[in-house]
Amino acid sequence: MTVALSSDGNHSAAMAQRHLPIGVFDSGVGGLTVLHALREALPQESFVYLGDTARLPYGTKSPESVVRYATQCAATLVARGIKALVIACNTAASAALPALQARYPLLPIVGVIEPGAEAALAVTRSMRIAVIATEGTVQAGAYRHAIARLNVNAQVTETACQVFVALAEEGWTQGLIVELIIRQYLDGLFSTAQAPDTLLLGCTHFPVLRSALRTVLPENVVIVDSAQTTALAVAKRLQSEGLLCDELNRHGSVHFLATDGAARFARVGSIFLGMPLETSEVDIIDV
Ligand code: DGL
Repeated sequence: MTVALSSDGNHSAAMAQRHLPIGVFDSGVGGLTVLHALREALPQESFVYLGDTARLPYGTKSPESVVRYATQCAATLVARGIKALVIACNTAASAALPALQARYPLLPIVGVIEPGAEAALAVTRSMRIAVIATEGTVQAGAYRHAIARLNVNAQVTETACQVFVALAEEGWTQGLIVELIIRQYLDGLFSTAQAPDTLLLGCTHFPVLRSALRTVLPENVVIVDSAQTTALAVAKRLQSEGLLCDELNRHGSVHFLATDGAARFARVGSIFLGMPLETSEVDIIDV
């Protein structure tokens, strides 16, 4: 096992470590919404992003399979030399965060669940929060538990919306069909007197559906996701570990890896990243 961290206090080793990229992974292109926020918050940092597109979706797989996939993704990134790891996938974070932390005790690892829970609690007024996520994340009760750890008074409703992942991966983010599917999943959830005032997007694929969700949801419902709060958590963690890149004028790079379909990754990924992405920028690897 290679962990790109030094514990000997050696000055040049520590400097070299600060210049290593941050590893980020997801089952597909969804985690690019988190990468986007990370790049905005930490422009001087470099990133290596891995989308496990060959095995997407994770949300319908058993927790055992997701732990195995996440472990393989993490090992691939660690072997390339990273200073921190971001699990930009709620399904993988809910199933595999403790396993990865146990495997790489020296590596700062940040998942998206705790930051997502914090984001929702920061905006809710009624303390009633609806979470939409994959089947795996909902079955694990990941957000129910994470929110309860932060505030026992919050009431959490979790709804699995697995088809949203397929819509997002297809690049179908707007229009009648998307809105009908949203209604099919969410109708009734916001129509009672005790309805939630906050919708937490508990899947990193879902932020691209935000404007379609906005069209369907009542005006008073605030939509939040974990991208910004995750970026903030990563920045804090790097700062506290002395791992922030100190060359403030540097413009960090991104290396894109996927396990299948470079052209599709680039085409759909550009929607998630909010900037053009060329097929030639995506390397296909086996994990
Ligand atoms: N983007 C992932 C998440 O945040 C998972 C989507 C999937 O592979 O099912 O949960």
